[in-house]
Order: sequence, then structure tokens, then C-alpha cells
Amino acid sequence: MSPSVFVTRMLPEPAMERLQVADVDLEVWPEPDPPSYETLLHRARGRHGLLTLLTDRIDANLLDAVGPQLQVISQMAVGVDNIDLQACTERGIPVGHTPGVLSDAVADLTIGLMIATARRFFEAAADLKAGRWRTWSPMGWVGPDLHGSTVGIIGLGRIGQAVARRLQGFNVRILYHNRHQHPAADALGATWVTLDELLATSDFVSLHCPYTPDTHHLINADALATMKPTAILINTARGGVVDQDALLKALREGSILAAGLDVFTPEPLPSTHPLLTLPNVVALPHIGSASISTRINMALMAVDNLLAGLAGQPLPHCANPEVYQPPTP
Ligand code: DGY
Repeated sequence: MSPSVFVTRMLPEPAMERLQVADVDLEVWPEPDPPSYETLLHRARGRHGLLTLLTDRIDANLLDAVGPQLQVISQMAVGVDNIDLQACTERGIPVGHTPGVLSDAVADLTIGLMIATARRFFEAAADLKAGRWRTWSPMGWVGPDLHGSTVGIIGLGRIGQAVARRLQGFNVRILYHNRHQHPAADALGATWVTLDELLATSDFVSLHCPYTPDTHHLINADALATMKPTAILINTARGGVVDQDALLKALREGSILAAGLDVFTPEPLPSTHPLLTLPNVVALPHIGSASISTRINMALMAVDNLLAGLAGQPLPHCANPEVYQPPTP
């Protein structure tokens, strides 16, 4: 009997083709919006494999409802904060994810957000469209430079490093903060500093850490107060890394200059959210990895992880590798 698989959204064509020729009994959620938690719980019951997106909440309750036959969860994303990894590990379920293939696309978008926010692209474009471009004026729509600035990268992992590589061309000073110094930092010209020093010194603070209980609201009111009033916050990581209410207050009061945000709490952010009314916010709907080839590669990687798990092989990209360790006595 072929293993039964539920895929929580239509994937890019090449990934669907790879799934369709695989020896699996396949069901794909056909709607453009994600299944609700209750629907997912119902559809996932009895499956051997689940292919999920970051919009699906996978918790212990859901795992128990699916049943002990579940062999693998494969997520089409590098971040897996929607999945209770510990609950998966305790049940012996490997969780696949997609590191690496999206680093360049997210880094490209990060640099784009830095420039768009600093140079006020959307504010200026809106003024142009609304007929408010009356003349060229010496200080019209001016903003700070990225070139020559100090950029602080929080989380010098794959994406943080890809951002640092791109910044080489901008003649910036790169600071970074990780729990431990990173061996790749020297080659990137990045200097380790404490979090406080990074916040206090950087003209741009760019977030690239995973979202975990340790990084929940890492950028809170105190952190924002430590930043320079001329500083710009860029978040392409996860909304929960930032205390959004504190950010809103800081942006309103001018205790930081601006923010470029691709991620929010919640997602989708309601269109009436006050953050979206601020002229000093550039907001995007979580499109960091949204290049065509990146999304195809992510989906193919997710299918490969899924099929490996169903075949009882180690996942090529596993977010909870401890699942393969023998349990400690
Ligand atoms: C991820 O993969 O975690 C991104 O946020 C979506 O591409």
C-alpha cells in the first residue's frame, strides 16, 4: 500500500510533478487559503506524511490526532516556528525544512528594503501619484545613505551572511551579534559586538535570527530605546522577534527613524493596522523568498525531504536532527 500524504497547498508545478510520479497516495488542499486548524486536523488524520507551509500550526494535539503511523513532516520553509519540534522529536517524527535555497532571495530583499526604507521609495512614489510633486526641492524626500553606514546584523547564519556579502559593495561597517562568534565573520569583514553595542551603534539593524522562545521580542521597548533616533530597523526574519506595539510607539515618537518590515504578528497583518498608516514604515506581505526559482527550489526540496522520510531514509535537510539520536538512558 502506498503511503498516504497530505499537502497543505498547491505547490509550484515541478514539485507537483515530482509528487505525482512518486509512489504515494496523494491529497492536496486545493484552496488558495490555508486549511483551518480544525480542517487540517481532520485531513491529516491517518497520514504517513505531511507537507506543510509556515501557515499551518503543527502542535502536539495535531500530531496525536494524526496518529502514530506518521513518518515525516516536511515544511516548505526554512523557519519551522509553526511546528512544535520537541513534540515531533518525542514522537520520533523528523521534520524537513529548506535551508540555503532561499538565502540569496531573502538577502536581496533585505538590501532592497534597506534602500527603499532609507530613501523613502513608497512615500515619494505615493506623493508623485497623488500630484504632490510640485518641484525638485533641495531637501525633498531626503533620507540617510546605506553606503558608508554601519549595519548591524543580528544572526549571522546563512541569510545574515548573504546580506553581509551583498553589503561589501556598499562600503559599510558590518557589526554582527550571535550568541557565539561565527567563523565566517572575518572573511565577511563583520565584527562581533554585544547586542547592546550593535543596537547603540548601527544605522541599520537587520534581523536574521530564527524565532524561538529565546528571540521572542528580542527587539522590545528597551532595545528600541537603545537604538539611535536616526536608525532603521529591518525585519525579514519573523514578526515575533519584534515587540510590534513597542515598535509602533518608537516609530510614532521618532525614537527610531523608520522600519522596513516583511514579517508581522499576526500574519496576514490586518490592512487597518496602525503600522500601515505610518509614513516611515515600508511594509511587505512576507515575500522574502518570493522569487520564482527560489520558490520552485524550496518546493522541490520539501518534496525530497518528504519522500526520504517516507522511504525511512534520513531527511536531506532535517530541522530536528536529534530525532536520529538514540534516546538518552
Ligand atoms: C521561510 O522559509 O522561513 C521564509 O520565511 C519563507 O520563505
